[in-house]
Formats: sequence, structure tokens, C-alpha cells
Amino acid sequence: MVFLGRTYKISVLPGDGIGREVIPQAIRTLEIAEELIGGFTLKMHNFECGGEYYLRTKTELSDEGMRFTKTEADAILLGAIGAEDSDGNPVRLPDNNLAGYNVVIGLRMELDLYANVRPVKLFEGVPTPLAAEDIEIDMVIIRENTEGLYAPVRGHLSRGGSSEVAIDTRVITAKGSKRISEYAFDTSSSRNGAPVDGKKRVTCVDKSNLLAGCQLFRKSFDLVSNNYPHIEPDYAYVDAFAQWLIRKPEYYDVAVAPNAFGDIVTDIGAAIQGGLGVAPAGSIGDKHAVFEPVHGSAPKHYGKDIANPIASILATSMMLEWLGEKRNDDKCTKASEVIREGVTSVLREGSIRTYDLCKGKWQAIKPSTTTQVTDAIIQSMKDIADSR
Ligand code: IPM
Ligand code: MN
Repeated sequence: MVFLGRTYKISVLPGDGIGREVIPQAIRTLEIAEELIGGFTLKMHNFECGGEYYLRTKTELSDEGMRFTKTEADAILLGAIGAEDSDGNPVRLPDNNLAGYNVVIGLRMELDLYANVRPVKLFEGVPTPLAAEDIEIDMVIIRENTEGLYAPVRGHLSRGGSSEVAIDTRVITAKGSKRISEYAFDTSSSRNGAPVDGKKRVTCVDKSNLLAGCQLFRKSFDLVSNNYPHIEPDYAYVDAFAQWLIRKPEYYDVAVAPNAFGDIVTDIGAAIQGGLGVAPAGSIGDKHAVFEPVHGSAPKHYGKDIANPIASILATSMMLEWLGEKRNDDKCTKASEVIREGVTSVLREGSIRTYDLCKGKWQAIKPSTTTQVTDAIIQSMKDIADSR
């Protein structure tokens, strides 16, 4: 009997807008990686979900989709959530949350995906809006993903039907702060340090000069830091961090932040690494994980085959890396690497790129389509595998 290796079930949730274009392309690269490396099998289970689906069905994701995603899937791949109605307004649920909220935020909360991992790497061949040309950016921002301002402790005080007071409660716990700090230090342990000096460094991003929750966050960070003497603890208030990200990004190795601060600073991170089109993310817990591009559904770009598939393709590479580590399966790890190397080589080569990357030194290049970029990445993955 031929040994076919492990089979992994993937819940595929393309969602809305360009999510429905980039996810199928990312799956093409996954399937090629599986074929090139061999020794493992991926089974894709596709479910419609999100705002457009809600408009049609009044549910955000079918019961079966939710059940499979939460209890059977080995990993989850998500596109983007967010639809507009015929008047151009965001589609909302009766409780005023965005239609699709229970997919994106619901999965983070219900599967306890406490670490939102957002690598910020400037690949060779990608234009950064920063003035310095030869800057090296290679950090990971770890955003706490289950509490903070996103804790569902909020509401409106409505008297006589009009909302007079609205309150969002920021919840910071010792448990949440400790585990996210540990995740950050573990991440730094397995990396090569900051580009500027090769030092392993974890920066605690908070507002502990003012906020009680941030004081607890930092205290937990410090306790965890004691267990990692080979890693330099570093501190930045979130407002200062926003400007340091732009002024000296090469200084950072790993940064850890409470939920909403992490949401904001990772968009700055996406910008300096060349934009949302190349920024992947993983929402990772102890058992489950969702991988997705950082970008949204961009309804105005949908249907034109112009969206950059690279963020989603890098998200699939992160997914395989996670599966490889979690399941101790070096085939998945190798497949993750071949996807990443394919992306690296297409970006470096430079001539095939979507419109968002045709800037700076690359402004004269005629933009390629979503499909053409994926084709080029697939070709490059094949060449890389052949040359081994
Ligand atoms: C993100 C997004 C989400 C968030 C939205 C879509 C609710 O901005 O993943 O960063 O705020 O977490
Ligand atoms: Mn965000």
C-alpha cells in the first residue's frame, strides 16, 4: 500500500467581495504545493458566508458550515467579510453588528484564537511608502485577539428610542495578557532577531502611563519576560510606537499589543510592508486557527480580477507552517516554504504584479491580473521544486 500521509480538512470561507477571488487563487497554490511536496493531503470544504450570503439567506454561515468549521476542520482559511446593500451601505445584522461579524469575530472568540499573528515583512521588489529605499523590515506583530475593546461588553443607553450614551468596555485579564506575552516571546525565540542588530527583542506596546488595563498587561509581560533571559524586553507606548514603526521599523523583531491597539498598529505595519495586498494574518489558539489576508472585501474591486492574491497566498503558507508545527509534519512545513519561496521569487523578479505594487521603481510596469500573478507564483514554485 502506498503511504499517502496525513489528511487535513480545511474549512474554506471565501466570504465577500474580493475574498471570493483571492481565496480560490490561494487554493491553487496550496494544491500545487501539495502535489510538489507530496506526503500529505488537503481536503477543502467550501462554505459560503458573510454579508452577501446573509442578504440572500438571513444567515451568516450555515449551521453545517459553522459545525464543520468549529469541530471538524484542521484549519480554517477565511477571505474577507463585509458587503454593501443596493444603496451602498454596509449590510448589518438586527443587532447592528456587521453581517459576517459572527464569522470573523465569532470564530476568534468561540474558538479562543487568542493570538492574532501579523508578520510585517518588506519583500524584495515591493514598494514601501517609506522614504528610505534599502530599509530592512522583518517583524511580527502579535495582537491579543479575544479581549480588550473587542470583548462583547458594550451597549447603548436608549431612552425613548434615541441612543444617548454608548459604552465599550475594555477588558484586560491577567490570563489573556500572560498567554499573549508567552506567544510573543516564543515567536521571538524561533526567529533571527531584529534586522538592525540581530537581537531577539519583544516590544510591549501599551498605554501603561495612563490605562489600568495596560498596567496589568505590562506587568504580565514583565513576569513572562523573566522566563526568557535570552530575549530583550522592550517597551513603547502605542502612540510613540505608531511613529517608531515608520521611523525605525528595522529595530523591531516581535511586538505584542492589546486587541484594539494591535488592530491599528498592524494596519501601519501593512502599509510599510507594501500595503494590505501583501499582508497575511493568522488568528491562532491552542487547538484551532484561522488564516486570512488582513485586507477587507473591497466590494468596488470585486469582479475585475485585479486584487492582489499575495496576502491570501502568504496566509496559506502560514496555515501550512502552523499545521506542520502543530502536527509535527515536515511535509506541511516544506509545502509552506515552497509557497513562500514562490512568492518571494515573483516579487523579486518584478515584472508580474498587481496594480497596487506598480509604484515607485515599478510604476512603469503594466499591472497583471489576480490570475496572472498566481500563475507566475505557481510556475515559480514548480521551478523551485525542479531545481532541488
Ligand atoms: C481585522 C479587521 C477586523 C478587526 C474587523 C473586520 C472587525 O479590521 O481583522 O483587523 O477589527 O479585527
Ligand atoms: Mn483591522
